[in-house]
Amino acid sequence: FSLQSLNTFGIAATARAYLHVTKKEQLLGVYADGAWATLPKLILGGGSNVLLTGDFDGLVLHIGLEGKELIGGDERHHFVRAAAGENWHAFVQWTLAQGLGGLENLSLIPGTVGAAPIQNIGAYGLEIKDVFHSVTVFDPASGETRVMDAAACRFGYRDSVFKHEGRQLIILDVTFALPKQWQPNLRYAELANEPGMQDAPSAQQVADAVIAIRRRKLPDPAQIGNAGSFFKNPVVAGAQCAALLERFPNLVHHAQPDGSEKLAAGWLIDQCGWKGKSLGAAGVYPKQALVLVNNGGASGADVVTLARAIQADVQARYGVLLEPEPVFV
Ligand code: FAD
Ligand code: EPU
Repeated sequence: FSLQSLNTFGIAATARAYLHVTKKEQLLGVYADGAWATLPKLILGGGSNVLLTGDFDGLVLHIGLEGKELIGGDERHHFVRAAAGENWHAFVQWTLAQGLGGLENLSLIPGTVGAAPIQNIGAYGLEIKDVFHSVTVFDPASGETRVMDAAACRFGYRDSVFKHEGRQLIILDVTFALPKQWQPNLRYAELANEPGMQDAPSAQQVADAVIAIRRRKLPDPAQIGNAGSFFKNPVVAGAQCAALLERFPNLVHHAQPDGSEKLAAGWLIDQCGWKGKSLGAAGVYPKQALVLVNNGGASGADVVTLARAIQADVQARYGVLLEPEPVFV
């Protein structure tokens, strides 16, 4: 079964078997059936944060669960629930059309609602953990379904329990707590400087500004294969950042609440001269050095080769190891 159209990098790889999951009962069936239960599984949403490094000798469970609703609230929040297979950006637009602000800074992120908690998606001053209520998961080990709150999800920067001990859990739906007293979140300087953001913008206007910035900077996967940022922004100790600043006064860094510093991986890669360069069929996007692209016909191995060359250069020049963001399959 070809996975080429199911990953935004557009990498040609195959899977032994494929199932489009539109009902929870299908999952119960798969894990209860001896033959299916023993096959390796790959849970796939929009395929916008995976790098297929070869063919997958197992069963792809393509999550297509649908549905979204306003389910109530408390004094301060509206609770909105969406099934895992809903398209993330369409869901954000739907909340805005209901008059519910809170998710607009995360507009235009590709992929599904169900994948959003996996790496605690974030952009333009907001992470999903800031507007998260709970998640319903199916645990293949027990065959049971349970609800997990934010503390149980252990969200961090591009991280959650679902990348560690909870790796086997399948997210069925996500509930968000959106503020009843909405205010624009313009913490990200680039967003605050967009036209129209200075004069009490509406949530839809903030969404439109985020969309405009993203369209300027990031490649559309429908045109150029990519998975967004290929590396996480590295977090280093304050002292290491200070030492780097002595040698590289223009180093882009952001102080973290615990005294550590987050460096801009895109800046480090750019300074190493990689922006717009290619190695075989894989390349570095000319407008944003943190995004690796498929120039056409790239294999997962081509992307890995380019990524290793970039990591080696950044390590040699700055002594910082860049960690990939997408999940390698
Ligand atoms: P997939 O790629 O299908 O899966 C990603 C991982 O989640 C895999 O390990 C998969 O097994 C697991 N998974 C998927 N669905 C489930 C489920 N229901 N239950 C359990 N596990 C599951 N990310 C950001 O955080 N911020 C950004 O600004 C951003 N910008 C991007 C821009 C572009 C152009 C692109 C291509 C990507 C960008 N991303 C960004 C990355 C990506 O969009 C997000 O990580 C997104 O949440 C991935 O969703 P998906 O459905 O495509 O996940
Ligand atoms: N920069 C350069 N050269 C480049 C790219 C960036 O010098 O080629 C500098 C910029 O000038 C800026 C800094 O690096 O000073 C940061 O760049 P940008 O604002 O574009 O954000 P980023 O750190 O590269 C992160 C996320 C994005 C998210 C944006 C907006 C990570 C790994 N990436 O990118 O998320 O959309 O901030 O919040 O945290 C993703 O995860 O896939 C993703 C796209």
